[in-house]
Amino acid sequence: MAFLAFPEGFQWGVATAAYQIEGAVREDGRGVTIWDTFVRQPGRVQNGDTGDVACDHYHRYREDIELMASLGIQTYRFSLAWSRIYPFGRGAVNEQGLAFYDRLIDALLEKNIQPAITLYHWDLPQALQDLGGWMNRETTDAFAAYAKTAFNRFGDRVTRWITLNEPIVFTEMGHRTGVMAPGIRDLGAYARAIHHALLAHGKAVRVFREGGYRGEIGITNANTYYEPADDSPETAAAVERARDFDTRLFHGPVFGRGYPATVVKHFAERGVPLPIEPGDMEVIATPTDFLGVNLYSRGLIQPANNSVGFTYAPPRLPLLPMGYEAAPHALGAFVRWVSREYDRPRIYITENGVCDNTEPDASGVIDDTTRQELLRGFLAGLHGAIADGCDVRGYYQWSLMDNFEWAFGYSKRFGIVYTDYRTLARIPKKSAELYAEIIRRNGVEV
Ligand code: NOJ
Repeated sequence: MAFLAFPEGFQWGVATAAYQIEGAVREDGRGVTIWDTFVRQPGRVQNGDTGDVACDHYHRYREDIELMASLGIQTYRFSLAWSRIYPFGRGAVNEQGLAFYDRLIDALLEKNIQPAITLYHWDLPQALQDLGGWMNRETTDAFAAYAKTAFNRFGDRVTRWITLNEPIVFTEMGHRTGVMAPGIRDLGAYARAIHHALLAHGKAVRVFREGGYRGEIGITNANTYYEPADDSPETAAAVERARDFDTRLFHGPVFGRGYPATVVKHFAERGVPLPIEPGDMEVIATPTDFLGVNLYSRGLIQPANNSVGFTYAPPRLPLLPMGYEAAPHALGAFVRWVSREYDRPRIYITENGVCDNTEPDASGVIDDTTRQELLRGFLAGLHGAIADGCDVRGYYQWSLMDNFEWAFGYSKRFGIVYTDYRTLARIPKKSAELYAEIIRRNGVEV
């Protein structure tokens, strides 16, 4: 056993998102979102599950904050439901929605837990979707106005802001494959959504800078660490294409490198060019303060004769219930890669975690061994990346508690705390004890 100490001041947190935990979808003036609509369409979500109640965090937030405090959590990343603040996405502000987040933030601060806010975690107000949603350029202005309202209201107490969560997921799965809200399957819709999401990010960063708010702002991208299935030059090229289509697509523009040429060509050749207008790329490249990294797994890549030139090779590591490989080395490896690629940005691991569906045993104990083992492994890799000079300042475990896993409904458990969906009781798992110990010692035993 070796003890890996993290740098002094390293921050340990947990992450959640509004639609996945809050419930109370019709309360206090909250407007309808694309997920409220999507979950009601037959066959979209496993078991017909919805986020109507979810973890009922809207009513139980104090209990959840007590729980975080008992684990020693130092920072909490959560998202604002845009439609609680602007029920129709823009226009009239709903004071009750703002008041809820005021209470949440104040309760966190009372316990010395630093709030970190995600402005957009996939729950677009339905009224904006009715006008085209992310396919419509006007959504970028609505987002910037909503961001400004949030900065004005909470900026006195909140100093870490994330504009968008995982744009590749809500653009691609929402508009190309259609497995997530709003459930569209159209390449042109995807191209438009990509560019408008990034433009919305850039506009919000500009609002933040121009308003002179305190604190730091960044974007959170979804990442898979891509590795070659063999040593051939063709496979190496396929890995680069995977990085272009998945990773550089959203990092490149934000870091002022523009869209990868392969991706621009891909859309242009299919008659659906990215809808870039003069000045857009400068807005998108407005400097940020940090990069949010979400990472869960790796992807083993091989060349393919398809439209993108790569595909996943058969997995070689044990599979998790989400269908991807248990690959603890991927976190450190990705952080090294992204640090090299973009000249060592400040990084927060805004999400990392494990789907482990372990249920309580006869005595009610939840010994989620896979999650515990992988947590140690992910952190060992991250420790190595920091030792090599990557500027990682904090880590958020996804998630505080089991919650609504989008199209998988409640069938996938990511919490370090178990949610009993019949009683809504929260029961800390063994991994919660492990995480509390990691935080207490500011390091991990491996
Ligand atoms: C990424 C997403 O941001 C989050 O909403 C989701 O629940 C987790 N990963 C786990 O899949």
